[in-house]
Amino acid sequence: MDATPIIGRQIMRYETVTSTNDLANRYARLGEPEGLVVTAEEQTEGRGRLGRAWIVPAGTSLQLSVLLRPALNPKQIQVLAQMAGLAITAALREAYGLAPALKWPNDVLLNGKKCAGILIETGIEADQLAFAVLGIGLNLNYAMQAYPDLAPVATTLADALGHPVDRAELEHRLLTGLDAHYARVRRGEALFGEWRAQLETLGRWVHAVTPEGPEEGRAVDVLPEGTLILERKDGSTYKLVAGDVSLNPGG
Ligand code: BTN
Repeated sequence: MDATPIIGRQIMRYETVTSTNDLANRYARLGEPEGLVVTAEEQTEGRGRLGRAWIVPAGTSLQLSVLLRPALNPKQIQVLAQMAGLAITAALREAYGLAPALKWPNDVLLNGKKCAGILIETGIEADQLAFAVLGIGLNLNYAMQAYPDLAPVATTLADALGHPVDRAELEHRLLTGLDAHYARVRRGEALFGEWRAQLETLGRWVHAVTPEGPEEGRAVDVLPEGTLILERKDGSTYKLVAGDVSLNPGG
């Protein structure tokens, strides 16, 4: 039941780890083949993008890292986040009839709140991509209400559905979907159009924290390698290469 053609052909399950990304990085450097999945019930140093922590109650959720060795150049790495975003939204739609959306750059939303995050880390050797670790955290069986700081912006599947979900079944569905999308990446297919179509950030007024300071504007477009184009109030544009945005209904 666990075996899929590449992603998930080997699954290493741990009880408590620092971060599943740490282990997947270590296995990558030891030469493990791609497709290895590392899962954990609990992460003591789980991490998110931009140096943030990713800590969820033990045993409640999906926390996994996939080791990949794609024939991509480092600039094309965003296709892996697109593949993960598409696989997560498809799994939630197909298994539960939910209507998830994507938020730039790497989040999955349910009812406008974040339920999943994606963290990609890479190993680069002589300017080439030696491996990528695709880390996915998907909040499942706990109530976000218990975390008043997060509850305004984050949610869980149990919150969205009103009941807990079968974690093993969802994990299998997700890995199967990831594998199918990864086959497309290996064939050189672009996933960008499908990903862009689910990006609810487009058309919205957003606030961004950038290396040059705060920016705000309407998100008018996104480029395949991930850059978000903002149109400021004065009509000028700003290219947001990395960072995070908060969505604002006004503006
Ligand atoms: C984000 O939204 O900032 C990304 C969150 C990624 C969390 C996952 S959980 C499994 C893997 N291990 C980690 O330490 N992080 C990723």
